[in-house]
Order: sequence, then structure tokens, then C-alpha cells
Amino acid sequence: MNHHFDTVIIGSGLAGLRAAIEAVRHGPVAVLTKLYPTRSHSTAAQGGIGAALGNEEPDSPDWHFYDTVKGSDYLGDQDAIEIMCNDAIRTVIELEHMGVPFSRTPDGRIAQRRFGGHTRDFGKAPVRRACYSADRTGHAILFALFEQARHLGVKFFAEFHVLDIPVADGACRGVVAVEMRSGVVHAFSAKAVLVASGGYGRVFKTTSNAAASTGDCLGILFRARIPLQDMEFFQFHPTGLHGLGILLTEGARGEGGILVNGEDERFMERYAPTIKDLAPRDMVARSILTEIMQGRGIGGGDYVHLDMRSIGRDVIEKRLPDIASFCRVYMGVDPSDAPVPVCPTAHYAMGGVPTDIDGRVLADETGRVIHGLYAAGECACVSVHGANRLGCNSLLDTVVFGRRAGIAIGEFIGNIDLHDLPADAIQAAEADIETILASRGDESSETVRLDLARLMMEHCSVFRTDAGLRCLIAKLPEIRERAGNLAVVNSGRRFNTELYDAVELRHLVDLAEVIAASALQRAESRGAHYREDFSHRDDANWLKHTLAFRSGDGLEFRHKPVVVTRFEPKERTY
Ligand code: FUM
Repeated sequence: MNHHFDTVIIGSGLAGLRAAIEAVRHGPVAVLTKLYPTRSHSTAAQGGIGAALGNEEPDSPDWHFYDTVKGSDYLGDQDAIEIMCNDAIRTVIELEHMGVPFSRTPDGRIAQRRFGGHTRDFGKAPVRRACYSADRTGHAILFALFEQARHLGVKFFAEFHVLDIPVADGACRGVVAVEMRSGVVHAFSAKAVLVASGGYGRVFKTTSNAAASTGDCLGILFRARIPLQDMEFFQFHPTGLHGLGILLTEGARGEGGILVNGEDERFMERYAPTIKDLAPRDMVARSILTEIMQGRGIGGGDYVHLDMRSIGRDVIEKRLPDIASFCRVYMGVDPSDAPVPVCPTAHYAMGGVPTDIDGRVLADETGRVIHGLYAAGECACVSVHGANRLGCNSLLDTVVFGRRAGIAIGEFIGNIDLHDLPADAIQAAEADIETILASRGDESSETVRLDLARLMMEHCSVFRTDAGLRCLIAKLPEIRERAGNLAVVNSGRRFNTELYDAVELRHLVDLAEVIAASALQRAESRGAHYREDFSHRDDANWLKHTLAFRSGDGLEFRHKPVVVTRFEPKERTY
């Protein structure tokens, strides 16, 4: 089946929806999602969106800019970070006007809470910068943007799984996707395609990410020879529910919760004397695991406690109701009465498809663009988060750069003609589906995926070594072979989840290879990438971005400089 739209957007999270709201003013827009739009993973974002409104105490976009650069361990591009922090206040007010029900101060202004790494006066003390809607901020914003997009006539294609994004002669022509309900392949010809398909936390065993976060479009683009940037940087959120990985928002510490070890010690005082439990996530995650490895987990075990009792039941129920419910339902613990077992959980990909500040996808280290191809949100690397994202900057990133991409697309599509997708793109997708459905091997995709996720967790999570990464890389070909030897039982086309599991597994294997090899080549420690064998940051050799390209059956690495405009790299203490 063939469709024609000026703009096709893949992903209905915040970045995709915000872009759609701009692009639809210039011509027809289709949004494709493999879920139902309001189930996008943005809905899981809990604690807040950063903006220096100064509603609760003095704040400034300049301080936000500085904190984000320092939080990124100086790998973030400062031109992009400055744009984001300066646009944050306008962005939040605009969201409020679109109908986002933010929590309020007693005098009716948007309430703000503390978050890790956000400080006043260039690092002097934590500041209230995260605007929130209880602990359902992503959910609140997603629903408001969805309503706006529908009202403006954006067309949604729910439960469409993208199989290909054909790129030829330096230009993107559209998208090939399969309708999951029928198994019918659809071709979407477009003047511009925006990839806003989110992250790939499912490559790790313990993760806060939804089952759908499998990095499909990154896998597709990588195979189409588009580079992936800074893939060695993957963030572990310090407070996942122990054994499950479900997120407990940093807002819990922003409201006064503290981390405690098995000796009943508030150990973050030793690691970050100034801002303690509100240090950036890379530091807090490493500190928790250091306590555990040195035998100071709770009862000597593999977790620490998040103690929220000082916040008080009333505030917990009003500002943190979802996570209080998670603690009760999944752990049998009421956080108003008892501390909660927590451990770091894979949360956010800093790496992704390289883009410029208007979402145009970059083909190489020289900044050459792929015409008509855009990316925004977690799947993109603009790069505002560098080596470590600060909490509450991801929602901001999605909305600021989603909007910019939508505006850029609006300008672009006015100047070009719409061409049909090449017919062989559809034939190739059909052939791919048939090959998978005919697979009569002896592996289950779930078992292979779990084995992959366990390997990634063991060798490529918070602490990394040369030996561990090499061991991982040596084992990945076997995982790839097993992923190509699946026992597919259902050869039908309707809602065939085996088919989509197989496709997603292939993407996860590709991304695992890129993450592991990117981590091996970066012989330093920076932000979320910590190498036990190179435990210091090495600005002389590594103040640069990694670009991983597919080359033959292997990988090729190139690099490009970090944009430093105002804040020269310094030692990072908190
Ligand atoms: O802790 C949180 O609420 C997560 C927020 C974020 O990742 O920005």
C-alpha cells in the first residue's frame, strides 16, 4: 500500500509530536509508531523538565548552561547546550499554554524541585530547576502534545513497525513499514523523514526502559552507512528498584530522600561533599556500586537504600504518588515508613544519530547532511548531553530540538518535489519478512536477547575494562549467529510478535557491537564511560566525539572535535 506525505515522523514521543506540531503547518504529516501514541516511552519520564524559571529561588539560564556542560563531563557541544538552556523558559511556558498540568507553588506558579547536577551560582548549591507534574511529567506533556497534534490534523499510524528508511544518493525518500495488525507492508513516500524513535535500553539486562526501546531506527540507519555518535556513553540511573530496574525518580532525592549504605551511612557525603545525593547520575551510580563492591551494600548484598521517610507521607503522596505506588506494589515497601532497596538501572543513551542544531542528520565528521533526513530526541546526538546527561534535561532536549527540527522541515519541504519510494525498497522488506517467517532454526529470540543483555550488563555497564570489553566483543558473533537461527513457529502475518521480536533482536545485536567497540576504543574515563584501566579523563587525546561507521562487515571509527565556546574543561568536583 502506498502513501504520500510531505513529512513522515517515526516515533510519537515528545520529540516526534513537538516536531509534528510545527511541520503540519507546512503540509501533511504522518506519525508512525509501533505502539499506540500515548504509550510512547516518553510517558515514563517522571521527575521533571529543566528550565531556569526561578519560581522558587533565584536561577539563571547561564547557570543551567554551565551545569549542563560540566554534567556532560565537557563532551557536550556548547553551542547546542546554550540554545537548549536559553530556550528552556519559553519552552515550558509554551507547554503550559498547550495545556500541560504542571504542579503549582502555593501562589499558583509552576512548581520546581531539585535535580542532580543542577546548581545555583556555578556549582555553589543545588537549585530548584525541574518543573514537574507530580512524578508523571512525561505523561502530562505527552498527552498535551498528542491532543495538539490531533487537533492540527496530524495523521497517526499506530502499530506500524518500521523496516526500512531508504537513503540513496545522499537523500532520504521515505519509510517502509509493516502494519502489525495485518502484516501488510506500506510504503510512505515523503519529502522529509524525522526519526524520533527513542532509545535502546533493552540492550541491557537491568533497565528502566520499556520493552519497545530496542533502537530499531538506529539499527536501520547504521546498516544504511549512517554513522552513530558517542555510543560508548550509556547512562545508568542510580535508583532503579532492586531486582527490577523500574525507575524511582531523582525527584525523590530532589524532595529530600537520601541514599544509605549497609552501615547506615549517608555515603554520598564522601563522594560529593557539596551537593551529596544530588550529584550527577554517573557519579552517584558509580558511588552506589563502589559501596556494594566494597561490601557496604545492605546486609552485604547488591543494593543500597533510598530513604524517603524525611519527606513525609503528605508530600510523598502529593508529589511522588506513582513511585510510592511502585514501591508498595513491586517491593511491598511503603516509602513513607521504610527505606527502599535500589540499584543502578540502564536508563538513557547519550549516543545516537549525529545531527546539527536543527535536527539535520549528518553523514560524516565534516558535517555533510543527508537531505530530507532529520532526527531528534533520545535517538539523536546533537550533542547536548555529552558523556553524561543531567536529569530533567532529556524532556527539554526532546521538546526544544523536536520543535527546531519541525521548523527546519517546514522550510525544507517548501523547496522540493515529492518522489515515490523506489519499488525495490518494498520488495526488499517483503523478502526480509518472508526470510524471518521461514526460519526454522532452534533458538528463541527471547533467550538470545536475554543472553545478549546479560553479556552487556556484565562487561559494558557502569565499570568497564579492556579485558571485559574484548571478552564481550569476542562473544557477540555467536549471539549474532544465534539471532539468525530462530525457531519461528508462527508463519502468519497478523500480529505476529515473533516477527517483530526477530527484527528487534537484530537491531539490538548491531547496537551492542557498536557500543562495545566504541567503549573499547575510548581509552579514558569520562562521564558515564568509566574504564577501570584508564581511570582519568584525558582531554589531550579524547576531548572529541566518536563516530562509528559500518565498514564491510566491521566497524570504522572517526572523530570530530567538541564545540567549546565558553567553558573550558576543568576538573569535575561536586
Ligand atoms: O529521575 C527521573 O525522574 C528521570 C528523569 C530523567 O531521566 O530526566
